Amino acid sequence: MNSAVYPGSFDPVTYGHIDIIKRAASIYDRLTVSVLNNNTKSPLFSTDERVKMLKDICRGLDNVKVDSFSGLLVDYVKNNDFNVVVRGLRAITDFEYELQMAQTNRKLYPGADTVFLTTSLEYAYLSSTTVKEVAYFGGDISQFVPEEIAKLIYDKFR
Ligand code: PNS
Repeated sequence: MNSAVYPGSFDPVTYGHIDIIKRAASIYDRLTVSVLNNNTKSPLFSTDERVKMLKDICRGLDNVKVDSFSGLLVDYVKNNDFNVVVRGLRAITDFEYELQMAQTNRKLYPGADTVFLTTSLEYAYLSSTTVKEVAYFGGDISQFVPEEIAKLIYDKFR
């Protein structure tokens, strides 16, 4: 049985992430979406807030769980018996970093493979960083994130 994890910052989750979650959920028997609990970056949303957002988004996707992790991804992957790591690739600019991460992870733990899903074209430009910037300046983010997430983002900048 394939058990996949889709790790990320999800600060905040966007339609691009949701597209990858739904497509990965239709490929793998079980999918865990896992939020990096990162103390080094200063995220807009706490880990608990990001986990809650994702749980709300993933309600109704029966084979999807939401979790968080700290430390090395490979340790989390090993401890939870995942055999696939899913990552989205938007453009060639993502590729170099993603390839380096996938190869490093495979050196550290050969028990799992990274599989890349190419982001659907309509979301290829989308990033959490640009969503936050548009929202910060009061712009319209309705095409980028679901309404309930947009509300939470605007609330942070109020
Ligand atoms: O959504 P992001 O920020 O692109 O996700 C990056 C993430 C969380 C997948 C990556 O930073 C990660 O796995 N961090 C955990 C620490 C780790 O394992 N670092 C070594 C990677 S080679």
